[in-house]
Amino acid sequence: MKTRTLGSLSVPAIGFGAMVLSPGVYGEVDDTRAEAALKTALDAGGVHVDTSDAYGVDGHNERLVGRAIKGRRDEVIVATKCGLAIPEGEPSRSHPVGYAFNELRVNTEPRLVRGYAERSLRNLGTDVIDLYYTHYTDPGVPIEDTVAALADLVRDGLIRHIGLSNVTAAQLRAAHAVHPVTAVQNEWSMWRPLDADLLAATRELGVGVVAWSPLGNGFLTGTVQTLDAGDFRHNAPRFSAENLAGNNDRYAPIRALAERLGISPAQLALAWLLHQDDHVVAIPGSRTPSHIEENLAAADLTLHPDTLALLDEALAGFEVSGGTLL
Ligand SMILES: NC(=O)c1ccc[n+]([C@@H]2O[C@H](COP(=O)([O-])OP(=O)(O)OC[C@H]3O[C@@H](n4cnc5c(N)ncnc54)[C@H](OP(=O)(O)O)[C@@H]3O)[C@@H](O)[C@H]2O)c1
Repeated sequence: MKTRTLGSLSVPAIGFGAMVLSPGVYGEVDDTRAEAALKTALDAGGVHVDTSDAYGVDGHNERLVGRAIKGRRDEVIVATKCGLAIPEGEPSRSHPVGYAFNELRVNTEPRLVRGYAERSLRNLGTDVIDLYYTHYTDPGVPIEDTVAALADLVRDGLIRHIGLSNVTAAQLRAAHAVHPVTAVQNEWSMWRPLDADLLAATRELGVGVVAWSPLGNGFLTGTVQTLDAGDFRHNAPRFSAENLAGNNDRYAPIRALAERLGISPAQLALAWLLHQDDHVVAIPGSRTPSHIEENLAAADLTLHPDTLALLDEALAGFEVSGGTLL
């Protein structure tokens, strides 16, 4: 697997997003299936594993990852996040999102940050987190204060690198002035552009970009026609029955291009992302070993400039119905 550099951290170009392995996200999954998926990802080189203390109930996702890395910790880059799994009785602030439920509750007060990290370390069964993100920015706390608390964790050896998820360029610049930020993790895919100012700031500051939902929550694989009851994507306007059908129709030229190239739409979506810049990596999620291997293989694809030009043209004409998530 080709590697890329996020700040000073070397990671595979394509890693593995573990969120899908906790129940209640994208349909059915149990721990046996989840453990098999993680083993496939690690065996195939997807050793940058992304989780969060907020995925699943009571650290379920981190504990899954912890079991998977047992005995092979040194091969794995473990990334997790804090700020959404707030201890009972603690205050929180509302962060707007485009999902139907319309807000997330966030608390990244410095006094809580060490406790968050210690809880994640216990869940993960490790003594250090390689890349530790704030999951969302707390509207009630200056980002500089949170990053200063994270810098203490670096100094004390609990975490190796600081990341920020779901940030703006201004927030990144403010944070980076306190302590070097290794990576930002924002949504970025063929149907969700990354903010141009943020991309420019990452280039200028030498900060890596980790693209979340690089397959558009599965849409860009070309396989999502309907959703099961209980699928989290029912909350996302792009997946409402009427929007999904239209979006699939308008995505057809890109699916057809993948077919002409002899690769899957998922692989084309991932390769396209990696061709946006060399400080970009992707963390697709999947419960299915064959999908995981297919996705990781996309790290080795080289897209011809003519193909990239065709894609730019097709994407310019791909009008997505339904709002974005942030
Ligand atoms: N920082 C944040 O706020 C944030 C937010 C969302 C996500 N993330 C991170 O990003 C990671 C990935 O995002 P995501 O899981 O939302 O979306 P994604 O990777 O864009 O898509 C996942 C979906 O695609 C399907 N899929 C994957 N590969 C496939 C293939 N080759 N063919 C057909 N279907 C395929 C999966 O189904 P199967 O299981 O059936 O393969 C699953 O339903 C998460 O795990 C998480 O680590 C971060």
